[in-house]
Amino acid sequence: MNAWLNRFPVSLPERLTSPEETAALELRSALPELAVSLEKKEEMGEGFCLRRVGDRIRLLGGETGLLYGAWFLMYFCRLGGGTLPDHVESAPRYSLRMINCWDNPDGTVERGYAGMSLFFRGGRLAWDPARIRTLARMMASCSLNVLCINNVNVHDPAQLLLEDGLPDLARLAAEFRPFGVRLMVSVDYSQPMRHGIPTADPLDAQVQAWWQETAARVYRAVPDLAGFLVKADSEGRPGPFTYGRSHAEGANMLAEALRPWGGMLVWRCFVYNCRQDWRDTETDRPKAAWDHYASLDGQFADNVILQIKNGPFDFQVREPLSPLLLGMPNTHKALELQLAQEYTGHQIDLYTMAPMWQEIFRDLPEDRIMAIAAVSNWGDDANYTGHPLAAVNLFTYGLLAWNPGVDPREIVSLWVRLTYDFSPEDKGTLVALMLSSRRVYEKYTAPLGIGWMVTPHDHYGPNPSGYEYDLWGTYHKANREAVGIDRTTSGTGYLDQYPPELRDRYENPRTCPDLYLLFFHRLPYAWRMKDGRTLIQRIYDDHFEGLRETLEMQQKLQRLPFPEEDRNIILERMERQVHNAREWCDVINTFFFRLSGVPDGHGRRIYD
Ligand code: GCU
Repeated sequence: MNAWLNRFPVSLPERLTSPEETAALELRSALPELAVSLEKKEEMGEGFCLRRVGDRIRLLGGETGLLYGAWFLMYFCRLGGGTLPDHVESAPRYSLRMINCWDNPDGTVERGYAGMSLFFRGGRLAWDPARIRTLARMMASCSLNVLCINNVNVHDPAQLLLEDGLPDLARLAAEFRPFGVRLMVSVDYSQPMRHGIPTADPLDAQVQAWWQETAARVYRAVPDLAGFLVKADSEGRPGPFTYGRSHAEGANMLAEALRPWGGMLVWRCFVYNCRQDWRDTETDRPKAAWDHYASLDGQFADNVILQIKNGPFDFQVREPLSPLLLGMPNTHKALELQLAQEYTGHQIDLYTMAPMWQEIFRDLPEDRIMAIAAVSNWGDDANYTGHPLAAVNLFTYGLLAWNPGVDPREIVSLWVRLTYDFSPEDKGTLVALMLSSRRVYEKYTAPLGIGWMVTPHDHYGPNPSGYEYDLWGTYHKANREAVGIDRTTSGTGYLDQYPPELRDRYENPRTCPDLYLLFFHRLPYAWRMKDGRTLIQRIYDDHFEGLRETLEMQQKLQRLPFPEEDRNIILERMERQVHNAREWCDVINTFFFRLSGVPDGHGRRIYD
C-alpha cells in the first residue's frame, strides 16, 4: 500500500520531460472525463489558478504550479466536493518545503523505522526506479519540493560530491525533476581535509577555493541542486569552532561557494554541549541554541538559512517553541520538524503529529520563518512508512508547509477519506483515534513536559534514570520531594530568551499550562494543580489513563475494516504499543512512588 496514492493509479512513461507533462498525464489518468486545459504562466512559479468556464476547466500556473494544481483538482474531484468554484487560486506560503533524509551510504537510516534507505546501498547511490517514482509522486502530491538525500551526520562523504559519484547524483536528480523536486546534499564541514588540505578553517584561502571548485563541479552535474545542508560543531561533527571562527563566518564561506549557482546553504542550529557533567547546575541545554546564535543576527549571507528544531531540546513529545524561532529578525530561518518517530513511538505506536504542529503554528507567526524542513519517516518497507497510518504525517506536513493556516485536523480527515473506503462512521472513528493518539502517547510516557525518561540511544520504552547521570544535559533531578528544573528567570534564566508575553505565561506555575509544567518548573509532589489534584496524583492518573486509552484504541482499531495487508501490520503494531504503554505506565508510576512514598489516591496497583 502507498496510502493515499493508491487512489490515483497512473502509468507514466519511462522518461518524463517536465512537471507540466507530469501534470497532464496525471490528470488524464485520474480524471479522463474532465476537460482541463493547462496553460503555463512562468511568472506564477509554484502557484496555480483554476478557472471554471461552463464544463471546461482552465488550469494556469508556473511549471510546478500546474502539477500542484492538478493534484488539487484530483483531490477535489475524488472526494466528491461538489461543483468546483468558478475561481480557485493558491500559492505556497514557503518556497522551500524540504525533506531531510538521514540515510547513510551503507543503506542504513539513522532513526529510520521503515526499513533501509531508498537511495543508498553498499556505499553508493543505488535505487529502484519504480520506488523512486512513487516517492517523487508522493512528494509532488503534497507539494514538497526539496529532498536532502543523505544524513546530516555525514559518515562517508566521499563519493557524493566527487567526479566519481556525480553521474549517479545527476541521474537521481533527473528522476525527481519532473515532479518538481530538487535535491540537496548534506556536507561534512571538514571535507577539504580529506583532500590534502591541512585545515577546514573557513577563512583559509585554500579551503575557500576547494569549496568553490566543489560547488562548481556539483552544479555542472546538477544545475538545479537546492544547496547544501550542514550540521557543524554538534554532537561530535566538525565545524568552525575548531578554528576559533563563528558560525556566521563558517556558514558564509560555504554560502559564497554556492552563490554563483543560486544555491542555498542550510545551517542547522542544533548546537549544544553534549559532554555536560550532570553535577553541573549552571549549564542548561535548552538555552544553547539561543546562546550560540542570537548575537549573530544580521551577520549571515542572504543565501544562508538557519534551520531550527521546533523545540529547544530535541523532538520530545512536548516542548515549548524554540525561542530562537521567534528571535533573529534579520536572519533567514527554517523550522525543522521530525516525521521519523524517534521519541514518539518508532512508528510502532500510533502517533499523529497534526495536533503538535498546530500548537507550534499557534505560537509561531508565519512570517518568522521562510522555509520548513522535516526529517523523513520513510524507508524501503513495502508501504514506505512502516506503520501504514504514519503516512498521514508526511501528507499533513506537506500540505501544512504549503499553507500553515489550514487546520491540520482537516488534513488528517482528508487523508483518511483519500486512503480508506470506510463508512462515514468508521472514518469518524479513525480520525478521532488518530487525533487523540499524540495525547494518549504523551500520557503514558514522561510526565508534563519533562521528557527524556526514555531508554538511552534507542529511544523506545521507559528508563527514568537512563539519561540522568549522562553527558547529554537532559536531567529531571527527581528526588524524594520534588521533580524538574527551574527554568524561570530566577532559575536557569532560560525563560529570559522569550518575548515578554510567552515568558510571563510560562514563568508562573499558576499560569503555565499544566502540560508544560515540568518543562519550566521544579515542583514538589504535593504541588496543587489547577484542578486541585496533587502533582504526584496527576502523574499517576495520566499514566493509568494513558494505558486504559491505549487498550480502548486497540479495541476500536480491531473493529475497523482496514484492507488485509494494512490490518495485519496495524494490529500487530498495536499489540506492541499496548505492551509499551503498560511498561511505561508501570515503570514511571513505580519510579515516582518509590521516590516519593506517596500512594495512589485510588488504590490502583503500583509496584514497590
Ligand atoms: C538527535 C538524534 C540523532 C541526530 C540528531 C540531529 O540527537 O538522536 O540521531 O543526529 O538529533 O538532529 O542532528
